[in-house]
Amino acid sequence: KSLKQSIKNLDSYTHVRGESLYVDDVNVRQGTFHAVVFDSPKAHGKIKHIDYSKAEALEGVERIFTYKDVPGKNQIGGIIPDEPLFAENDVHFWGMPIALIVAETEFIARKARSLIDIDIEELPVITTAKQAKANGSFINAPRSFSLGDTENAFKDCEYIFEGETFSNGQEHLYIEAQGAYAEPLENGNIKITSSTQGPTAVQKTTAQVLGLAMHKIEVDVTRLGGGFGGKEDQATPWAVMVALATFHLNQSVKLILNRHDDLRMTGKRHPYESSYKIGLSKDLKILAYEAEFLQNSGAAADLSPAIAERTLFHATNSYFVPNVTTTVISCKTNLPPNTAFRGFGGPQGMFVIESAIAKAAHEIGVSPRQIQEANLLDENDTFSYGQIAKKVEAKNTWHSAKKIFNIEDLEQEVEDFNKNNSSFKKGLAFMPITFGISFTNTPMNHARALVHIYLDGSIGISTAAVEMGQGVNTKMMQIAADVFSIPIEKIKIETTNTTRVANTSPSAASSTADLNGKATLKACKALLERLKTVASEDLNTSEDQIELKDEFVYVNNKKSNLSWTELISKTMLKRVALTENAHYATPEIHFDKTKEKGHPFAYHVYGTAIITTTLDCIRGTYEFDSVKIVHDYGKSMSEGIDLGQVEGALAQGIGWMTMEEIAYNDDGKLLSNALSTYKIPDIFSVPKEVEVIPVETDGNDMAILKSKAVGEPPLMYGIGAYFAIQNAIKAFNPNYDLKFHAPMTPEKVLMGLYENN
Ligand code: GUN
Ligand code: MOS
Repeated sequence: KSLKQSIKNLDSYTHVRGESLYVDDVNVRQGTFHAVVFDSPKAHGKIKHIDYSKAEALEGVERIFTYKDVPGKNQIGGIIPDEPLFAENDVHFWGMPIALIVAETEFIARKARSLIDIDIEELPVITTAKQAKANGSFINAPRSFSLGDTENAFKDCEYIFEGETFSNGQEHLYIEAQGAYAEPLENGNIKITSSTQGPTAVQKTTAQVLGLAMHKIEVDVTRLGGGFGGKEDQATPWAVMVALATFHLNQSVKLILNRHDDLRMTGKRHPYESSYKIGLSKDLKILAYEAEFLQNSGAAADLSPAIAERTLFHATNSYFVPNVTTTVISCKTNLPPNTAFRGFGGPQGMFVIESAIAKAAHEIGVSPRQIQEANLLDENDTFSYGQIAKKVEAKNTWHSAKKIFNIEDLEQEVEDFNKNNSSFKKGLAFMPITFGISFTNTPMNHARALVHIYLDGSIGISTAAVEMGQGVNTKMMQIAADVFSIPIEKIKIETTNTTRVANTSPSAASSTADLNGKATLKACKALLERLKTVASEDLNTSEDQIELKDEFVYVNNKKSNLSWTELISKTMLKRVALTENAHYATPEIHFDKTKEKGHPFAYHVYGTAIITTTLDCIRGTYEFDSVKIVHDYGKSMSEGIDLGQVEGALAQGIGWMTMEEIAYNDDGKLLSNALSTYKIPDIFSVPKEVEVIPVETDGNDMAILKSKAVGEPPLMYGIGAYFAIQNAIKAFNPNYDLKFHAPMTPEKVLMGLYENN
């Protein structure tokens, strides 16, 4: 087996032994204080009075910090400066941080929190995007993409359908809750250990809040116990809070949210309320598509504008539609600011066009699959944002899936089963995906790597990549091992630290391995050239005869006596640098926001899933028999890791579409505030069989070693679960009215099975 076939996520070794270090595992200094956040018990209102006296009087309480203690700006908003670190005179969501209680122990801080009296004059609460729109409550101006002439194209359509859809939010449920630890260094410098996807965001925001230069703040990340987008922006406040306390107390301070606090205080995937109009020709070509997406952004912008933008980028999923008009409106509500979540608005957009297709198919009396297949993207088709589709694998993955998985047999099985069973029904759905790879914000697509070869031949690599379970550190090791032809044991991936790699983009957008991997590759290749020069001098030959293989220098394919370790010490003696710092910025990409046209993505990832479900029509419960996928990995550099990403994303996508149900009451209080009321897929609810076949492809050079990004795209296969269930309901109840209101919980299924009868 080659390295790419056999490589495991190297973190798995420490994970299974319980040795992996997270923020809560940091060896804290003696005298470290522990903190708890005091947050708003109302979703909207004016703070009339807060009495901290009883809390402050509690033995062991050191100090309570509020906005009054902020020496710099009480502001943590990234894209739009609309979010205070601590509430000042009013509160905008239930769970909004108001103060930080710092005490000798977390227990004492928690006790102190219960002793704070707060008086809030309540104001009207908005919890849905539609209410916000009716009230003119927005984050920013709407955005629209358009291609062709939608209005006129509808005139040529044989069929036109309109409808509304809803997709709910989703809780990230990273196993490691949010947290941070700050310690004072000399001269007022502060080091923060953070569970963040974006160390530079933490550094920059902390500096801004404390009124310090960025060089006074060092942020270090070992790994995250999951991020999923929830720690792209929203790991920042906790880190800033402990740094603020450390700034004032000159003592280290730790804050780890417990699950209840985390669920209540943090934002989630954005719920969307959308409406669409779809027009088709007689031969089922989608000629025109119009959609309006109302994004429930929550109480502050956070990443909402960027997420809204990605909704538009993916609004037509894997289809070519010649006439498109899409608009997204970020609606300001009194929920915690919703934030990045695997897929970043893309899944929400894709659910709408899949709903439109399902509706059209039902009304016309054809299978949704026929409409999907008739409109798949082809080479040189234009996306609504102007990019020309290249190296398209939409049809390839679709037709490969049909062939490899014997679709006729599968469909026959479902049909036979449904004929022969009255209280169980099966449903099948196809779900193609197309996802653009790159940060949609072009300036963010860059990374750096710092590679040291130590004088014993071992290597240390620092990049901006944050390991969060996705296996990026293993991929970085593979790259270096491959360039130098040395075993991975000789390579160490250092923590992600702002003093070694600065001004970084977050680990996000599925792009971490591409951006940091390309930078690592560049640094290693530069070192390799230097080593080859030394070797050629030493062996009296020309550089182009030299090759490094299996820890030895080869000349003209013949092994020399010069080993890797000797070569390194000779390089050192010659006073040649064994360190390289490389910068990579994605070439070719650009986007003009004034025209909403450009070429924002390095490439796209494609795939097709076939999902089969069995419904228990007495109980309304369902199981997924199988998910069969042909996925576009490009040429995977780490097959096991990438398969794990597909499986995990699929489960998360199915969870979003079927069982995960976030509920706020009309007062803006989170009801699904624990794992007893918020159900995510477990080992019993994941599909019984998941088969993932790599599509045959030449790959794409914009991807690292032709190995395409894999983090987010497969989540959207989960959208097929919604439609598979709905098809099974239809098989049981011919009078069922199609619904486009995710998640499709067992309760909704049960109602649907018996409605209109
Ligand atoms: N996560 C997924 N896509 C994106 C993106 O385009 N930008 C950012 N910031 N995060 C993402
Ligand atoms: Mo972004 S959802 O953190 O990749």
